[in-house]
Amino acid sequence: MKLITAIIRPEKLNEVLSALYEVEVRGLTLTRCLGHGGEMEAVETYRGSTVKMGLVEKVKLEIGVSDAFLDAAIYACMHSARTGEVGDGKIFVTDLEKVVRIRTGEQDESAVTPLADLSVEVQGSAA
Ligand SMILES: Nc1ncnc2c1ncn2[C@@H]1O[C@H](COP(=O)(O)OP(=O)(O)OP(=O)(O)O)[C@@H](O)[C@H]1O
Ligand SMILES: [Mg+2]
Repeated sequence: MKLITAIIRPEKLNEVLSALYEVEVRGLTLTRCLGHGGEMEAVETYRGSTVKMGLVEKVKLEIGVSDAFLDAAIYACMHSARTGEVGDGKIFVTDLEKVVRIRTGEQDESAVTPLADLSVEVQGSAA
């Protein structure tokens, strides 16, 4: 299993969520954050112009996936988040040692593999 951490532009969030839904990735965590992606900002000081590290608003998505979903999830994030301009974001992938679904105690692949038929589960839990 892997943990995908994708830092994206906030305005691309809906497109990224749709793309992940299309490849049947269902579980994720979203955090609004500030990031620095190498671009320097010019600032005026009394001795003249200098630069500082600019911080820009980004959205961080954390997605735990079984290995079977890794490539599809990365591809979905990459293509939906891209504008072609600097600052489009970055995707980090790290090994994920353990996952536990609290409700059932299911672990690892059974705890991250998307449900075969999500609509049945949604209807069932709404009843
Ligand atoms: N090495 C890094 N470590 C942690 N976070 C990073 C790193 N690089 C980028 N980020 C995060 O990703 C956001 C977007 O980065 P950005 O897209 O500018 O990356 P980049 O590698 O400079 O690519 P580009 O050349 O397209 O600008 C940053 O604001 C920051 O939140
Ligand atoms: Mg950058």
